[in-house]
Amino acid sequence: MRILGIETSCDETALSLIKSEDGIDITVLADKTLSQVALHQPYGGVFPNLAKREHIKNLPLLLAPLLEEAGLAAKMPAIDAIAVTVGPGLEPCLWTGITFAETLAEKWGVPIIPVNHMEGHIYSTLLHARKISKLNLPALVLLISGGHTELVLIKRQGEYEIIGETRDDAVGEAFDKVARLLGLPYPGGPEISRLAETIRRELRSIFSHEIVLPRPMLHSPDYDFSFSGLKTAVLYLLKKLPELTEETKMQIAREFEDAVTEVLVTKTKKALQHYGAQTLLIGGGVIANTNIRRAFENLSSSYGRVDMICGLKLLIPEPRLTTDNALMIALAGLAHYKEARPAMRGALKARGNLRLGEKIW
Ligand code: KG4
Ligand code: ZN
Repeated sequence: MRILGIETSCDETALSLIKSEDGIDITVLADKTLSQVALHQPYGGVFPNLAKREHIKNLPLLLAPLLEEAGLAAKMPAIDAIAVTVGPGLEPCLWTGITFAETLAEKWGVPIIPVNHMEGHIYSTLLHARKISKLNLPALVLLISGGHTELVLIKRQGEYEIIGETRDDAVGEAFDKVARLLGLPYPGGPEISRLAETIRRELRSIFSHEIVLPRPMLHSPDYDFSFSGLKTAVLYLLKKLPELTEETKMQIAREFEDAVTEVLVTKTKKALQHYGAQTLLIGGGVIANTNIRRAFENLSSSYGRVDMICGLKLLIPEPRLTTDNALMIALAGLAHYKEARPAMRGALKARGNLRLGEKIW
């Protein structure tokens, strides 16, 4: 069976075509993403109406080469279903993908599968060496992106229970806001990571830990997070500094990353132990971060320190699948193939605040 995935929830326009007979062995026929990062950079964040306009322009531009690369006919391609992100995300952007999906589905006479973007991020963690990994249950998912920070429990395949989430800013949002305070370009995550890794690699400030930031909600009795205080702490710190040197920027970046990493790892570890989770999945743009990746890899390896969790299976996406893409949407669509319905204009709505586990149709 062949599935076309469509993703337009934020600032990436993406299309992907996959083929699978059993839902486990996956062939990626073609996969394309057009990032609008450069376009939004002057605004310091994603400008929804500009993003919408770009999606409308880019979707047809991506479709023709996608079909050609997959070796499918341009007019009536042999596709079995179209999977499209319906939320969560920026509503004007989501609508562009939904309308595009409905138009194609009508023209080609194929059904539509609505997909939750966050479930897409979960599927992005499962694809390794062209196969969908088996989940040892119960499994725990940490979703860390520009819009979300969630801990999700999977007791049964396809059933999601959000056990913790951010009370204010998402982790990626905190990275972006702190980067902005430091005068770094959007998106801030990779910039902060670059500075922090430089100072770590050079061991330059190993003896100077004068910059200390809080670890919000580190020991709270729940699995919730809060990151806006961390951003405010950076703001106050900057106000007190006589000048912001490159060295200080690097120190702040490193301390900020350490604080975020410690909170994420501590909370996740607590949940893993409490629920006896066998598998840990980590999805979303922020798992591109080297320090966070490394900390979770240490947690899951079975030798050495006593605080490591033995036998835990850790699933992190391949680097190209960490940020938004349509392959993960096609994979989630494949898993929900039974829910495909004939295209009917107006049957689907953009759901900006759609939560994991909520019904879509
Ligand atoms: O999942 P994603 O591509 O889009 C959303 O659905 O939000 O995540 C984007 C977020 C941005 O906030 C970006 O700054 C962050 O992921 N990000 C990173 C890194 N690469 C991207 N954060 C920290 N370190 C990185 N290397
Ligand atoms: Zn995302």
